[in-house]
Amino acid sequence: MFDYDAELRFYRERFRAACAVQAGDRVLDVGCGCGQTTRDAASDAVRGSVLGVDVSERMLEYARGRASERVSYLLADAATYDFGGAFDLVISRFGVMFFEDLIGAFGNLRRALRPGGRLALLVWQPRAENEWARVVPEVLGGEFRDESPFALGDQAVTRQILTTAGFEEPTFTAVREPIYYGPDPEAAYENVLRLREPQALLDELGTVAAQRARDALRATLADHETDDGVLFGAAAWLVHTRRN
Ligand SMILES: C[S@@+](CC[C@H](N)C(=O)[O-])C[C@H]1O[C@@H](n2cnc3c(N)ncnc32)[C@H](O)[C@@H]1O
Repeated sequence: MFDYDAELRFYRERFRAACAVQAGDRVLDVGCGCGQTTRDAASDAVRGSVLGVDVSERMLEYARGRASERVSYLLADAATYDFGGAFDLVISRFGVMFFEDLIGAFGNLRRALRPGGRLALLVWQPRAENEWARVVPEVLGGEFRDESPFALGDQAVTRQILTTAGFEEPTFTAVREPIYYGPDPEAAYENVLRLREPQALLDELGTVAAQRARDALRATLADHETDDGVLFGAAAWLVHTRRN
């Protein structure tokens, strides 16, 4: 399985600080994946609790295997599940861009919050600002078709979605930290090929073209090797708002 925690290592503490979880908070972590942010929130909510929700049983299984105190997990679609209205804080690290009906889904997350409850998100800025999302498909001679990771990249669009869904005017803080693909080019190569879209692009190529693309990918990953591992430029927004 692709290791998001490693990929997002430079975002971890920024997001944790932005969430500013209080000791007694009841927190909902949306699209919690393997649960790193869920566990971080629980470490801060020392008298509270954290519920991680995800649609992927596989990721939740991994998360449950690393259970920690005050954490529980739920397999459900966060866009529609009735969470009740008791949460103080809804958080998500790159887990809220995939909803088909963004306004409807954020309306549902608003209903999960008590009046005045907070929403703290980390979402990708547009593809053009994210080297990882431009360079890898370019090198493989194609384009990634899934635009959903960037669905909340435009501030005006996101502001409109959130305010229509019943949140206060959001604030946006830019975070420009690299993403990490591995300690060296060979590990990075294996990791990138675990991602769905690069693999799909290679599958579409004939044998010779696929070999050429693999060689080009290896060369590009070698070009991005630094003392901190293989890094690509990336940019995200920390979005913060409250339930009206
Ligand atoms: C890019 S991953 C981020 C995972 C995790 N937040 C992290 O930072 O490691 C996006 C996650 O959102 C989950 N997801 C997508 N749509 C969802 C939905 N409608 N309800 C709940 N989870 C969803 C996916 O299964 C995936 O685990």
